[in-house]
Amino acid sequence: MKEKQHDGLIEEKRLFFPPSEFSLKAVIKNHDIHELGQNEIKFWEEQGKRLHWFKPWDKVLEWNHPFAKWYVGGKLNAAYNCLDRHLEGARRNKAAFVFEGELGDRRVLTYQDLHREVSQFANVLKSYGVQKGDRVTIYMPMIPEAVIAMLACARIGAPHCVVFGGFSAEALRDRVQDAQAKVVVTSDGSFRRGKTIPLKDGVDQALQNVTCVKKVIVVQRTGQHVEMQEDRDVWYHEVIKNASIICPAEPMDANDMLFILYTSGTTGKPKGVVHTVGGYMVGVSTTHEWVFDLKEEDVYWCTADIGWITGHSYLVYGPLANGATVFMYEGAPDYPEKDRYWEIIENYRVSILYTAPTAIRTFMKWGESYPSGRDLSSLRLLGSVGEPINPEAWMWYYKYIGGERCPIVDTWWQTETGMIMMAPVPGITPLKPGSCTRPFPGICIDIIDHEGNIVPKGEGGYLVVRKPWPAMLKTVYGDDKRYEDTYWNQFKGVYFTGDEAKWDEDSYFWVIGRVDDVINVSGHRIGTAEVESALVDHSLVAEAACVGRTHEVKGQAVFAFVSLKEGVVIGDKLIDELKAHVVLKIGSIARPDDIFLTAELPKTRSGKIMRRLLKDIAEGRAMGDTSTLSDASVINFLQKNIHTQK
Ligand code: PRX
Repeated sequence: MKEKQHDGLIEEKRLFFPPSEFSLKAVIKNHDIHELGQNEIKFWEEQGKRLHWFKPWDKVLEWNHPFAKWYVGGKLNAAYNCLDRHLEGARRNKAAFVFEGELGDRRVLTYQDLHREVSQFANVLKSYGVQKGDRVTIYMPMIPEAVIAMLACARIGAPHCVVFGGFSAEALRDRVQDAQAKVVVTSDGSFRRGKTIPLKDGVDQALQNVTCVKKVIVVQRTGQHVEMQEDRDVWYHEVIKNASIICPAEPMDANDMLFILYTSGTTGKPKGVVHTVGGYMVGVSTTHEWVFDLKEEDVYWCTADIGWITGHSYLVYGPLANGATVFMYEGAPDYPEKDRYWEIIENYRVSILYTAPTAIRTFMKWGESYPSGRDLSSLRLLGSVGEPINPEAWMWYYKYIGGERCPIVDTWWQTETGMIMMAPVPGITPLKPGSCTRPFPGICIDIIDHEGNIVPKGEGGYLVVRKPWPAMLKTVYGDDKRYEDTYWNQFKGVYFTGDEAKWDEDSYFWVIGRVDDVINVSGHRIGTAEVESALVDHSLVAEAACVGRTHEVKGQAVFAFVSLKEGVVIGDKLIDELKAHVVLKIGSIARPDDIFLTAELPKTRSGKIMRRLLKDIAEGRAMGDTSTLSDASVINFLQKNIHTQK
């Protein structure tokens, strides 16, 4: 299946040139921009100048493999760059955020408004003893206060750790504890498809027996009842009321931590990816301007949740550093109707839309009558992120959303890369549906075989980054060794992305997907080991193995093979109970679509589970080499019964 998928991709020969009107007005018209980027140090030195520095840097890069320091000696503040410097000119009263809640409530925050509330909240944090270097966990819905909390942390130099609001209390606890957060910012709940979903209750559960958290600050969003623990919990609206609006931005070293963001890897324990102020801010502001061709008058909408890296880099830091007007939406795309996104675009005259292939495939399934009933003529550029976009979805997006006039920027990057690494520069790069085209200027990417040799054009292999880049992760929080081993020790001297890709004769890249034990479900990374440990945690489960299987809308879905403990009687509700257990342990994004019960899992003679074979079974395709199996009858059983159980 995988083989077929990329063969199909590379056969895609359609080319889409940027419309001449677009190119004429584009931010980047310069066709030799990629050549300029070949001297990457000079290139990034030049881009560093787009920020405001309290003190200029002494050296662009100090590379002590695999530890990088960018803009060494420089001092700056991310919140200052996102807010204060826009207050001097015409942007003071420009909308920074235009927010719409699921129920239709609206709020516009100008740069001045945002600056004021961020400063106030920064003072609130300080009043609770939060100092430079202290970690603050943010567990919030998509509301302006989430962004305010992030920027307030950045302002005082307290690294934030945003945890996606859909994660369970247990997942939250792991992340709070790993970061040793001092404060948690949350809300009573959030709105989703007209219902209220509790968040504060999750925080209460997560913090049982956790001693590091001294304060919980609660935003009132839904008005639902919550228990407020005396001495620990306070209401946001009460504590911010009298806070001073003056809070000078802390001068941060370029290599001080800006945030930690947890992501899934190949082990059960999520990794705390560490990003630092200087390099990250240069990387995200440059790519945001160039890839999205950002103009002063644009209304830019990124549909990602702030709980993911896309929300950090392209909803908050990149756009605000560039003084953009950002649209933010709280709720579901099908509430109250399936045209909610298109209604938003019509109402707010959104000009740039950045979303994920899984959303596009969902819209395709709903049909084009929803977008065609709305005026989408304000759109001029479309973006895609999170997973490979299949040419069919690309074409649908191009035709029905972009009216065949908007270039599509397919952006390849990762939590770890912090910034977009491969994407078209829309005024100059011809597009091929399904390809993220070429590396961004100043980024050096290769495809290599298992021995580290660069593969010829037309072939595929492992996707690696050859040279450090400004927004790269600087380490895994508290675990330099894991950082080295995971990213830099797999292939000598280069950063391994975990992805497989092909390149064609024009040097266009076609990313195929993960080659490690990470599943990409609707553009979200789920570690198979995490789901397996959640299943094994259930009292009836002896062993579990998970793989990703191709899914029409989600890209991939979790398929779990489970063997139960001796003597367990299989009840009607067992499968549902196991799925619910995974939701309880991780969150609904990790819920397996399929659970298959089996007495045994296929293992090698040395006892290693043969995931490759399980994947073949889950995908319903011909089995690969089975000669190393310890007991071939296991496979016969699985193959025979897979359809009857599903
Ligand atoms: O497999 C790649 C896929 O998403 C992974 C990174 O996931 P995460 O860290 O959660 O960040 C997602 C948002 C940046 C990558 O290793 N991926 C991301 N973007 C693309 C993609 N695969 C193909 N094409 C893309 N545009």
